[in-house]
Amino acid sequence: MSKLHVAVIGCGSIARHRHLVEYANHPEVKIVAVCDAVESRVKETAEIYNAKAYTSYEELLTMEKIDAISVCLPNYLHAPVSIAALNKGCHVLCEKPMATSREEAEEMIKAAASNNKKLMIGHNQRFVPSHQKARKLIEQGEIGKIYSFRTTFGHGGPEGWSADGTDSWFFKKDQAFIGAMGDLGVHKADLLRYLLNEEFVQVGAFVETSAKENTNVDDNATLILKTKSGVIGTLAASWAYTAKEDNSTIIYGENATLRLEDDPQYSLVVHYKNGESVYYELGGIQSNAEGGQTTTHVIDHFVESILKDSEPLIDGEEGKKSLEVILGALESVKSNSIYHMEK
Ligand SMILES: NC(=O)c1ccc[n+]([C@@H]2O[C@H](COP(=O)([O-])OP(=O)(O)OC[C@H]3O[C@@H](n4cnc5c(N)ncnc54)[C@H](O)[C@@H]3O)[C@@H](O)[C@H]2O)c1
Repeated sequence: MSKLHVAVIGCGSIARHRHLVEYANHPEVKIVAVCDAVESRVKETAEIYNAKAYTSYEELLTMEKIDAISVCLPNYLHAPVSIAALNKGCHVLCEKPMATSREEAEEMIKAAASNNKKLMIGHNQRFVPSHQKARKLIEQGEIGKIYSFRTTFGHGGPEGWSADGTDSWFFKKDQAFIGAMGDLGVHKADLLRYLLNEEFVQVGAFVETSAKENTNVDDNATLILKTKSGVIGTLAASWAYTAKEDNSTIIYGENATLRLEDDPQYSLVVHYKNGESVYYELGGIQSNAEGGQTTTHVIDHFVESILKDSEPLIDGEEGKKSLEVILGALESVKSNSIYHMEK
């Protein structure tokens, strides 16, 4: 069988560190084209991967015969570019947060269904080995009834990550739509939905801009959440963990406490009620820090879902539900009250 022809739209940090590298390593994929608005950036990328360079995604979609694309663009472009590609008959892997509104997310889902194409959202936290193991332990009843959790994702801010540094779109509301909460918080909303295997029904939030001066989006957010069955917890997202990244999650249950990505050596630690502890060394989480890059499994999973015609783990509906938690938090801030998701 001939290789899957792939294009990557946006050649910034996430494309360079993960999508391009992981497609290039996949034996059944050929990167045929890349696109970025910055000409020097796209030319350099095209040279590395022996692909064709475009500065306009519309032109790329018109000129090339592509099976699948990755959307690695600022948040406000996720929906329009994904929908354009789906309508051209491409499968789409779109970065998170899926879209900037519920309506956009629904349009993306509709476009995937009407064109019979896969739509996957890049919530890589689900593929982290410690997270997968925790989900299994919870599912098997090993932890008993889950009572509560606390989860956080923070680092020093996107100026240390984005291709455009302090000038990045991450800091501009018209392009990013939200700050740390949409960049990092949405990952944890998705992770907790996955671990607990149920939906959040209530959310309250404090969302602040306290650390950065060059932005009109949030850089610190704390959410309180409640699931349908009554599990309660907190979710924090921050661009102001100035000294060190924190990407940890703790789950408190009837029989045990799970500590995820909290210990530098043991990515999962289980403390049982009877005093025993089990320490799992399961390999690291993807991190922005030097040497923190491990495979995300996102690209492999996306390619497999196309080749095997199976539904990706994080399809459009899943991406939308995780986005809705963040949108609910914004509603809570607006109304200064707890937002009921099922309203
Ligand atoms: N899954 C993850 O863990 C993870 C991590 C980081 C970023 N992301 C997501 O990936 C996406 C991209 O983020 P990034 O960190 O690569 O940002 P970045 O700033 O490093 O790169 C964005 C790129 O998009 C290009 N661009 C902007 N407008 C364009 C247009 N109209 N046409 C073509 N190119 C255009 C820019 O020139 C830039 O090269 C974001 O949605 C972000 O939330 C996901």
